[in-house]
Amino acid sequence: MSKLNEAALRKRVSVATLNKMKADKAKFAMMTAYDASFAKLFDEAGVHLLLIGDSLGNVIQGQDDTIGVSVADIAYHTRCVKAASRYALVVADMPFMSYATTEQAFASAAELMRAGAQMVKLEGGAWLADTVRALTERGIPVCAHLGLTPQSVHLIGGYKVQGRTPEQAEQMLADALALEAAGAQLLVLECIPSALGKRISEALSIPVIGIGAGPDTDGQVLVMHDIFNISAGHIPKFSKNYLAQAGDMQAAAQAFVQEVAEGRFPAPEHCFE
Ligand code: KIV
Repeated sequence: MSKLNEAALRKRVSVATLNKMKADKAKFAMMTAYDASFAKLFDEAGVHLLLIGDSLGNVIQGQDDTIGVSVADIAYHTRCVKAASRYALVVADMPFMSYATTEQAFASAAELMRAGAQMVKLEGGAWLADTVRALTERGIPVCAHLGLTPQSVHLIGGYKVQGRTPEQAEQMLADALALEAAGAQLLVLECIPSALGKRISEALSIPVIGIGAGPDTDGQVLVMHDIFNISAGHIPKFSKNYLAQAGDMQAAAQAFVQEVAEGRFPAPEHCFE
């Protein structure tokens, strides 16, 4: 049986799968996907999680940031991705201001779960703990997101590495622990020093997924357009063009999964100090 057929026959990834992978020190891979064709391609390539990211504001809608993305936009793309995926855990982003209050969070998360999401992702620190608790108590799995949180780009003043001072690093660790205690089942860390990515991943019992957070997180995530080097805007330092070496898109996704599993991605040139 070919590797692709084997992947198609595998049982769908769950949080339990990822917890076991963390315990076994087996690294997993997440990619963004926004439509059925790519979702099928990545799913068959063995990508463990598919993220309908609000990065669709940049790569699909051509905007400078993710602020204009609506819950309806994410729900539409989640429906497309879910229809074609059989293996990967499907995670949908809660967009800007869709979880500013707990009531809003309930309505937004319900719309995304009805569209096919199996988990929702929210950007923010300990201030979100009550929301995370309220969602998980109602049966909605949550992935938290710390470090560079693109929905706050105008507050932060640009897409910059976060957590470089000792105070910021302590705060991020405290936020991560608070979100885990509130019930978050996964955590994304974006654009932080590798040493901090390692420290937070070791301190948490839930799986941690890095994007520009160094080689020691439990999993790695990249935006699909960056992997193919076709993003309209700037391609970040933490990304890698897999299409150049692989030749076609599915082979590129497979190469990403394999390099993550073997600890070959990210390499030092993709990391921050
Ligand atoms: O929106 C997105 O694609 C994301 C990833 C960069 C983690 O949040």
